[in-house]
Amino acid sequence: MDSARLRQTALAMVANHKGLLAMDESTPTANKRFAAAGIPQNEQTRRAYRDLIVTTAGLGRFLNGAILVDETLREQTLSGKPFPKALAEQGIIPGIKVDSGAQPMAGDPGEKLTSGLDGLRERLAEYAKLGARFAKWRAVITIGPGIPTRSCLQANALLLALYAALCQEADLVPIVEPEVLMDGDHDLARCTEVTELTLHTVFHHLVTQGVMLEGMILKPNMVVPGQRAPHQNSDEEIADATVRTLLRTVPPAVPGVAFLSGGQSGEQACARLSTMNSRYRGRLPWALTYSFARAIQQPAMDIWHGEDANIPAAQKALLHRAECAHAARKGEYTPAMESDQTNEG
Ligand code: 13P
Repeated sequence: MDSARLRQTALAMVANHKGLLAMDESTPTANKRFAAAGIPQNEQTRRAYRDLIVTTAGLGRFLNGAILVDETLREQTLSGKPFPKALAEQGIIPGIKVDSGAQPMAGDPGEKLTSGLDGLRERLAEYAKLGARFAKWRAVITIGPGIPTRSCLQANALLLALYAALCQEADLVPIVEPEVLMDGDHDLARCTEVTELTLHTVFHHLVTQGVMLEGMILKPNMVVPGQRAPHQNSDEEIADATVRTLLRTVPPAVPGVAFLSGGQSGEQACARLSTMNSRYRGRLPWALTYSFARAIQQPAMDIWHGEDANIPAAQKALLHRAECAHAARKGEYTPAMESDQTNEG
């Protein structure tokens, strides 16, 4: 394990007021999103869509890294460049999602456990050779009556920690992603309580497994009320609840916290990230940044619609959402940024 390299990569992932793009949808998830956007679902369209993303000129102004899937890491862009190389040429560090998805827990109490440890050591060594410098593993925590259970939290946290330790052994920075889902009608207080317990449990296991905190990135949910909650809180209340929860649970040694968007719109995710960064400027031990998938990609995917003629407009929309996230990272996002884009057509 090269501690200096791990620290350096982790810092580079959150440097210069930039963040990360998650473009690591599994094939079933990519197909589901393509179906909703009216795009044919096959390997050619997935490759063409990911080509559209990585060939967007100027994307490196707003992104330090991009998370790929196994399929894309091994493929070439339409012009014949390996995807990791095309990203690196834009100054974007390539990473790789290495979990194999979340499956129902034994007895199916409505909770899930993430799998993917089998053969992981060998896969990480291969991914490093293919150009990846960091990895990602997502655990899913659901809020509902009687859940999450202690056993679900403990098991998911242990798996995250075992994954993270293997990544560091291979000199890949682990992105540790425990996602408390927005599904449900729970209030902000309940999400606060569950996120706090989740992060405490995750860091307990990370430390127990000897993970070097300086060489990892945390990818949590923002603390928000359930999507179906009757009362939706203000951006300020969400920013305060999220930062308070992180301050209680995330050691200062961790260089960066890169949020997932989790089903928030691009506008919502940026407004809330920006509120955190402007309200707490200079008072936080870690960088607060983005590792969004939908909140950066969705408008571009909808505009593209699988048609070459729409690529320039889709790339423009992608660049715009990445620029908004970059502004949010600086605490400078405003809704006016959206109408500027509309006016430009
Ligand atoms: P969203 O930003 O769409 O939640 O995706 C982030 C991610 O990487 C989920 O694993």
